[in-house]
Amino acid sequence: MTRIVYVNGRYLPYGQAAVHVEDRGFQFADSVYEVCEVKNGALIDEERHATRLQRSLKELGIPSPATSWTIGHIMRQCIVRNRVRNGVVYLQVTRGEAPRDFAFPSGDVAPTFVCLARSTNQSKTEALAAAGIAVKTLPELRWGRCDIKTVMLLPACLAKEAARAAGAREAWFVDAEGFVTEGASSNAWIVDAEGKLITRTLGRELLPGVTRATLLDLIGRDHLAVEERAFTVAEAHGAREAFTTSASATVMPVVKIDDMLIGDGKPGAFTMRLRSSFHQVAKVSGR
Ligand code: PDD
Repeated sequence: MTRIVYVNGRYLPYGQAAVHVEDRGFQFADSVYEVCEVKNGALIDEERHATRLQRSLKELGIPSPATSWTIGHIMRQCIVRNRVRNGVVYLQVTRGEAPRDFAFPSGDVAPTFVCLARSTNQSKTEALAAAGIAVKTLPELRWGRCDIKTVMLLPACLAKEAARAAGAREAWFVDAEGFVTEGASSNAWIVDAEGKLITRTLGRELLPGVTRATLLDLIGRDHLAVEERAFTVAEAHGAREAFTTSASATVMPVVKIDDMLIGDGKPGAFTMRLRSSFHQVAKVSGR
């Protein structure tokens, strides 16, 4: 339950927290966001999330609503005020409110800044990881700057809904050449027959996931074989193991892609090892 939400300088009861009807985030999805994991009351990989937020803002020419230090302070306040021990912090920055016009508003418009923290059901996530998830592949239908974490998430919602209707939990987008770009809300990984990890190289067609970056640190630490390159749907169907990465679920095993079971249809041992080691390398911020 979220009780208190930060909106533009004030901590408000959930039911009273609101933004203006002519907020550009509402009208144009002119807005960016971050989702950061909370574990034992502390933020995980705060610096990487802060850096990506500033990059997203810069790419769109939205002024930062505060310094990274202040944003960190607000995130921690939301965690404490909502008594979150394990969960996520969601923060969103829009270009602000102005009479509806496609071009940016002239003059000084203050960005809208919203932050909320929420507990997640750990046992449900663990049960999901123990069973593994199914994935449905779908044609890529998003825009050309998926490297910016914008709230322009309608294609992701449509894809997730199509996945859900097919009994899957995540959708993997596939580009025009038949290569997987990423999940609707996660990065995509496979393990090939030789045990090599494969995930797509960063570019404008996918989000530079914080969990992806931290997992690469773990892979480097343990000298594991990894190749950053695009992989096809056929390679994914024939993979020994597969998984997704995201702040809200860290390393999540994939046991089925479309109609194909991955490995023996159970979470891979390698994937589960990565999952259990992840927090050895992820940075924990002080409370
Ligand atoms: N989703 N790709 C997309 C399209 C995403 O939306 C996300 C995150 C990721 C993984 O990024 P990270 O490891 O930094 O969480 C990749 C978040 C969790 C969400 O929208 O809820």
